[in-house]
Amino acid sequence: MGSLELSPAHFRRLADRVSTLAEEWLEGLDSRPIAPSINGAASEAMFSEGLPEQGLGDAALDALRPFMEGSRAGNARFLAYVFGSGEPVGVLGDYVASVVNQNVTAWRSAPTVVSLERSVIRSLASAVGCEGFTGSFAGGGSSANLMALAMARESLAPANEDGAPSGVVYASAEVHMSIPKAVALLGLGRKNLRLIPTDAQWRMRPDALARAIAEDKAAGLRPLAVVATAGTVNTGAVDPLTAVAALAREHGLWMHVDGAYGALAAMAFPERFEGLGLADSLSMDAHKWLYQPADCGVLLFRDAKAARRAFSFTGDYARALNADPVEGFAFFDESMELSRRARALKVWLSVRFHGLAAFREAIRRDVRNAERLEALVRETAGLELRSPATLSAVCFRYTGGLPDAGLDDFNTRLLARINRRGRVYLSNATLEGRFFLRACFVNHRTTPEDVATVVHEVLAAAEELRAS
Ligand SMILES: Cc1ncc(COP(=O)(O)O)c(C=O)c1O
Repeated sequence: MGSLELSPAHFRRLADRVSTLAEEWLEGLDSRPIAPSINGAASEAMFSEGLPEQGLGDAALDALRPFMEGSRAGNARFLAYVFGSGEPVGVLGDYVASVVNQNVTAWRSAPTVVSLERSVIRSLASAVGCEGFTGSFAGGGSSANLMALAMARESLAPANEDGAPSGVVYASAEVHMSIPKAVALLGLGRKNLRLIPTDAQWRMRPDALARAIAEDKAAGLRPLAVVATAGTVNTGAVDPLTAVAALAREHGLWMHVDGAYGALAAMAFPERFEGLGLADSLSMDAHKWLYQPADCGVLLFRDAKAARRAFSFTGDYARALNADPVEGFAFFDESMELSRRARALKVWLSVRFHGLAAFREAIRRDVRNAERLEALVRETAGLELRSPATLSAVCFRYTGGLPDAGLDDFNTRLLARINRRGRVYLSNATLEGRFFLRACFVNHRTTPEDVATVVHEVLAAAEELRAS
């Protein structure tokens, strides 16, 4: 046995210690401050010793507890950003994925895990109304979006021989930053992204999209792809998917749907996502609204040939020698990554344990919590609603009779104070240049009482701030 190996019994002892820590951590979720107060200097100091030359043995695990105590998400009242709550059976799936350490490259390297991922992808596609789509797991929405636009480009406007790609990409003004980043990374040219105005509900306006496409065509440019968002990060808006798909079809554009935040909610509210199945590609994050531990992004697409056009660069050492459609299959021919962990395993285990119905119900609960917050904000004097619970994000601010000119500054300071109090954790959104508080519900632990706590904490922090 090499010096890095542990006996299986020793491994089990360490695993038991980690399980005990995990149990304590989960038990304490509700009572710990959501945002433990730590400054940059203190968090850097925790790890200032760097990596040791000589191993510490079992004592190495002693540092885990303080590390875990410093964590910010998972708590039922952590409502910032869009980040799932780390469903515990999914955590165990991650553990097993590391124990067996299968490399999800190709069937011949990891037959069971490749078939498992293909099956989970098919099931998720069908659960959100995209029957027949295939795809793969990815690090997250950002890499899924990048892959989707790479597929669009290689299908419709492949880089010319000088390597200069061309084409214009359209997305709403509320698009997530991962899309401009993807456009830049693909070398499409930052100026070739058109941000289409939105309507009063923050959705892309199809009339404005049609006009932008016509203008570009008239200017001799090549419209390439439109990105519709199914759940914008600020307000949860779902772009009019059917209308966008019709324009995409009419003008020969690739239609990608960025559903990183929202698309999995189509499992529970299919009527809010009509037209999702018309997309050429769709990204959605199981580490957001399927409550899985990160990282767990998904890219789905209608036509695997498009993925192969973008990603199949098989070198000799990796060439499949098997014509069987399953045994010759390689994920690296249809996605950006080569070596990667079995992300599908946690989803598979977690859904096998709870069942899809339980996830649909958890998503419905999140939406009901958002609607509850919307109602409470509407009825509470001193609060002003800015965006209602289209999905599960709500934007609002404290006004309390303060002059309009000072509201952005007051609410900025208010957010810091709310989060410092440690009972709820919110984020912010800038809408039409103004600052708003934002709560986003993608957490299976959040209860109606937690929603009431949000309003209570906002008012209490505002009172403190006004008195200070
Ligand atoms: C709409 C949307 N798209 C893309 C992303 C990026 O996803 P990820 O953080 O998994 O890269 C996010 C993240 O919040 C998002 O809300």
